[in-house]
Amino acid sequence: MAKINKSITGAPFPTPVALVTTTDKSGQANIITLAWVGIVCSQPFMVGVSIRPTRYSHKLLLEVPEVVINIPTEAILRQADFCGTVSGREIDKFQATNLTAESASVVKPPLIVECPVNLEGKVNNKLTLGTHDLFICEIVASHIDETLLNEEGKPDLSRAKPFIYLATDYLSLDKKIGHYAFTKKKSTT
Ligand SMILES: Cc1cc2nc3c(=O)[nH]c(=O)nc-3n(C[C@H](O)[C@H](O)[C@H](O)COP(=O)(O)O)c2cc1C
Repeated sequence: MAKINKSITGAPFPTPVALVTTTDKSGQANIITLAWVGIVCSQPFMVGVSIRPTRYSHKLLLEVPEVVINIPTEAILRQADFCGTVSGREIDKFQATNLTAESASVVKPPLIVECPVNLEGKVNNKLTLGTHDLFICEIVASHIDETLLNEEGKPDLSRAKPFIYLATDYLSLDKKIGHYAFTKKKSTT
């Protein structure tokens, strides 16, 4: 396989798409679409979100350093894209998209009801990297739609139909091809 030296526009490997809610001090909430998002620690559970200082959400995060990381589904793909193309400086994205805000249990920004997974986070660190600042968010509460629990009561997140971002495309996840440690030999004892 011959490889060429070439930079890739967008994400060179699949990333999640998250709708991150923030709020100003008066309680006015905003939504930003983010792809530069990832789990960075299991215990305590932490998620890193990278945001350009020019974004309105960046300003809000300095004002109120709390987030809700909402995972969108294919059903709200258009709203997810839209929230990544307009700024909360100009419009109320909840009103414009008809997405529903619900009070979070710990943090000030709201959950997005249409997203089946919502992670409430408090910013515990900010790293200035270059184009983006990385906000490390410690997850203090999490919510999952109960219809996503399987017969054993365990989350089956593929039922939610989340989607990923690759290069500059949104892709669905249609087929399960394995599971964690499926290559590990089962003990015969
Ligand atoms: C799929 C997608 C992924 C994006 N990922 C990021 C990101 O990781 N970081 C970022 O700063 N902006 C990202 N953006 C751009 C912001 O979502 C966009 O500039 C948004 O309008 C900013 O909203 P705000 O000004 O209300 O905060 C992304 C946009 C899209 C559509």
